[in-house]
Amino acid sequence: MNQIKPVIAALLLSVRTMAAPVQIQVDCAKPTVELSPYLYGLFFEDINYGADGGLYAELVQNRSFEYFNIEPRDHLREKTAGDMNPMYAWEIIERGGAKCHTTVSRWTPLNRTNENYLTIYIDKPGDGIGVANLGYDGIPIKQGETYDVSLYALLRDGDKDASLVVSLEGEDGTIYGSFQTGSLTPSWQKYSGTITASQSTDKARLTVVTKAAKTGKLLLDMVSLFPEKTFKGRRNGLRPDLAQALADLHPKFLRFPGGCIVHGYGLAQSYRWKDSVGDVAERRANHTTWGYHETLGLGYYEYFQFCEDIGAAPLPVLPVGVSCGFNFYECAAMDELDDWIQDAVDLIEFANGPADSKWGGLRARMGHPEPFGLKYICLGNEEHDTPQVRERFPLFVAALEKAHPEIKIIGTSGLSAKTPLYDFMKKLGVHSSDEHYYSDPEWFIKNQNRFDTMDRNGPRRFVGEYASNGNTLFNAIAEAAFLTGVERNGDLVEMTAYAPLLAHVDHIDWPKANMIYFNKQGLVKTPNYYVQQMFSCNKGDRYLGNRVVSANKMAPDIAVSATRDNSTKEIILKLVNYGGKDVDADIYLAGITHLDPQAEVSVLTGNPKAVNTLRNPDAIVPRKMAVKAGERFQYTIPAYSVQVIRVGTK
Ligand code: AHR
Repeated sequence: MNQIKPVIAALLLSVRTMAAPVQIQVDCAKPTVELSPYLYGLFFEDINYGADGGLYAELVQNRSFEYFNIEPRDHLREKTAGDMNPMYAWEIIERGGAKCHTTVSRWTPLNRTNENYLTIYIDKPGDGIGVANLGYDGIPIKQGETYDVSLYALLRDGDKDASLVVSLEGEDGTIYGSFQTGSLTPSWQKYSGTITASQSTDKARLTVVTKAAKTGKLLLDMVSLFPEKTFKGRRNGLRPDLAQALADLHPKFLRFPGGCIVHGYGLAQSYRWKDSVGDVAERRANHTTWGYHETLGLGYYEYFQFCEDIGAAPLPVLPVGVSCGFNFYECAAMDELDDWIQDAVDLIEFANGPADSKWGGLRARMGHPEPFGLKYICLGNEEHDTPQVRERFPLFVAALEKAHPEIKIIGTSGLSAKTPLYDFMKKLGVHSSDEHYYSDPEWFIKNQNRFDTMDRNGPRRFVGEYASNGNTLFNAIAEAAFLTGVERNGDLVEMTAYAPLLAHVDHIDWPKANMIYFNKQGLVKTPNYYVQQMFSCNKGDRYLGNRVVSANKMAPDIAVSATRDNSTKEIILKLVNYGGKDVDADIYLAGITHLDPQAEVSVLTGNPKAVNTLRNPDAIVPRKMAVKAGERFQYTIPAYSVQVIRVGTK
């Protein structure tokens, strides 16, 4: 309630007739540039447990015993790298005097890419022997909801009638639901079933137990538990609340699968898209740059599917045979580069090729015979300007242009806002080039005019990652001020995406700022999220020239964007006040008559230091209100605020 009061007060002030110290003049009759239809989108990376343990709805952690350590080679990784081992998140169960010992081995793997499996040697049968998976800090289940279970198992030298009981159990041993397999066989078999939870808890574990009456060897792999309720009901799907929060941003593109994780922590950890498609049991899991493991269960097919589900253009990012310049810089030898280049060419066949082509056929077998309509491909991420990059990058561009001239290539402008590789990208003639900036809010405020005088003859600009290093309202306001400059240059800037997108509150790799925070139970949208949503849902199609004239010649802390929506014919005003004083504005919509006096305003304002938290998620949220508009009208722009006013025209 306290948050609402200043807004209401400000809006009441908007009908005052006092002389306004600022005039905002909008030239509605002469639209300037056309805004890119792709201006606002998303950048998704498996960082902060964003995919496994986050968006990817799998509830079992380390389902195929593939976790492994890599030696920490820099300070960032030390905190987690040492923890990972094939039994991470698993516990052994021995009940009623039963005894066993276990190993994770690779002698008779499920397949060549999923090498590890668990062997449980049943040394002494009893009331039950098996394992429990603890999920991601406990498995959350809801009473009455159904969960899909699947696993691979075999039993050698043991009780021929033995089966497995798979249960959701509480910490105190309470059983919330079970499923029993048929009799086990001496070769790998997949067993599937469902469990409906009898109670809700956030701390369940999944137990897999046999009551085999004889000694023997039980092998297990790919133990999986999914809620039936996934986003759009997709199998192997996404956590609905997180996916819906992303969908609600109405993103026009999704850049995936990430930045640093694409490079990898050395070439062996690079993200190779072919590892991420096909049967989930055949995907090659990886230890990522961010110091933890990813199953690639959320892989390229699922990313393309998600893009389709939310109406976003897919923007896959491929490594260019060079690993992360910050950590462990390795470059593929020139005579091994063909393999990396072929990956890029084959990806286009996977996305768009006919169902009777090799890679298009795989897509069809996975359930999507129709092409995904890929239009863009991103090469590299924040590449360091090195001779190796300059030697390798052009070979990718040439091969793609030859094989698929219809695909637009997005290059990389390199590290920092200084875009050291932009000119190189211009020489290569790529369609657009990706630049990243993580800086303080003042940088974003100062750089509102960054694009105003930039070269229009080179690649278009893709602001593929940016954030003002914080999640206070003030950070969000600074980003909004910057975006008004982006809209003014919507002909040059083709796309923008805030980063990082998701962060599990207990597993944060990127402490400065993230767009959405979550835990097992829920999520919280930051003020930065709301700014993205306000801009994305109110972009408009043509920019309208405007200027801010200050009556007392003081520079007001105001940033403005004005656009026109072609389909609804509305004028859209975005007004950002990044200063601590309310500003009385006299708004003059010049060159247009027949305006609808009943306009609507969406306002985000409050204490500039306020943040939203899981406990208090609504400290800063936009509020919608009516405002009286006209060719000329007064509006008080509250201190520290972002607002969007939509004015209808007849
Ligand atoms: O968004 C986090 C990281 O920042 C990305 O992985 C990388 O591209 C950038 O350095």
